[in-house]
Amino acid sequence: MYSFDKGIERRNTNCEKWDAPFVGENVLPMWVADMDFEIAPAITRRLVKAAGKGAFGYQFLSDQYYEAVQSFMSKKHDYPVERDWICYVENVVQGLFLALEAVSEKGDEVIIQTPVYGPFFRVAKESGRKIVESRLRNEDGYYTMDFEGLEACITDRTKALLLCNPHNPSGRVWTKEELTRLAGICAEHHICIISDDIHSDIIGRESRHTVIAPICREFGGSCIVCTSPSKPFNIASVHVANCLIEDEVIRKEFQRLQGIYHMKDCNAFAEEALIGAYEESDEWLKEVNEYIEGNIDVFVDYIQKNIPALKVRKPEGTYLVWVDFSQTNIPAEDIKEELKEKCRILVNEGTFFGEAGKGFARFNLACPRSYVEQAFERLGEYFARAEHF
Ligand SMILES: Cc1ncc(COP(=O)(O)O)c(C=O)c1O
Repeated sequence: MYSFDKGIERRNTNCEKWDAPFVGENVLPMWVADMDFEIAPAITRRLVKAAGKGAFGYQFLSDQYYEAVQSFMSKKHDYPVERDWICYVENVVQGLFLALEAVSEKGDEVIIQTPVYGPFFRVAKESGRKIVESRLRNEDGYYTMDFEGLEACITDRTKALLLCNPHNPSGRVWTKEELTRLAGICAEHHICIISDDIHSDIIGRESRHTVIAPICREFGGSCIVCTSPSKPFNIASVHVANCLIEDEVIRKEFQRLQGIYHMKDCNAFAEEALIGAYEESDEWLKEVNEYIEGNIDVFVDYIQKNIPALKVRKPEGTYLVWVDFSQTNIPAEDIKEELKEKCRILVNEGTFFGEAGKGFARFNLACPRSYVEQAFERLGEYFARAEHF
């Protein structure tokens, strides 16, 4: 049994979440998506051992690295991958950039389903592609894909769709049926699905993550899956992620771009961290999932029972909770500042996820239960004052 209650002191460690200059004194940081838990001991052991090696010249990834990815994807996600399909990248966003460049040209259109993780907009815009926004439907806090709307915005220039699976910020774990319908539409119109699966290993007990790649294959469509141990094992700064690319032509182009940008070299610590995570930390992952679900339960239950002005649903996956402030009298553009000033909680503001996120705030609950309790108590006290309704 791991003890997540005690967390880990992160202040004064150059950690963005706690030490960024704008966080402020006595503010509970519930913004950037990483965890306030100590990592799994197997990962620490491997990193310490790697540090003792004494030579850190260029190196390549070991067989064990590839086997660890293959075995994890197969056992955990029922997605057997061939070794050749695995393309190491430093992080998922880098993978999204390369993937989009590999499957489209400047001026081509890329669909994103909003609200969605902010850098999706940047990836499309900064690479000279045209963003086509297909808003998700929000029915009482439950987000679904708008398939009719999505089909209606497809043109001859639409070459890619950036999928967030599971979805940040809504916490939806897309079902096989939803993904099948999406894959069918994209295959029919020769649109490559670039699937960001970074949140696929924090999943609630009622849901199951589905990798879209085999579904795309059945339809004869193409797909790039970007995955990483960084979110579930809290190792974002170690920089390890993988793009899984079945299509050889796309893969060769992806790797050509990696070569041009000098992005092919691996890092000795990344390799060890991934092996420690994927091969030796099953129990830790299981327990952290349970703990996070407990955090979500108490947070959402409290809000639903005590703060009727806020609308919230339990996410099916991720450790992120998407809260609707639109029924309060706080102006949308002030929500983040108001929560920081009056509740001493720092969140991500809804518009980080695009215009479709206006009026919302995202809370990160990957932290000790006591922080979650402090957060909802502060919210409760704030909303108990009548003028906020
Ligand atoms: C959906 C999604 N993709 C990518 C990232 C960032 O991943 P990386 O640091 O590997 O680029 C995040 C981080 O919050 C995320 O939520």
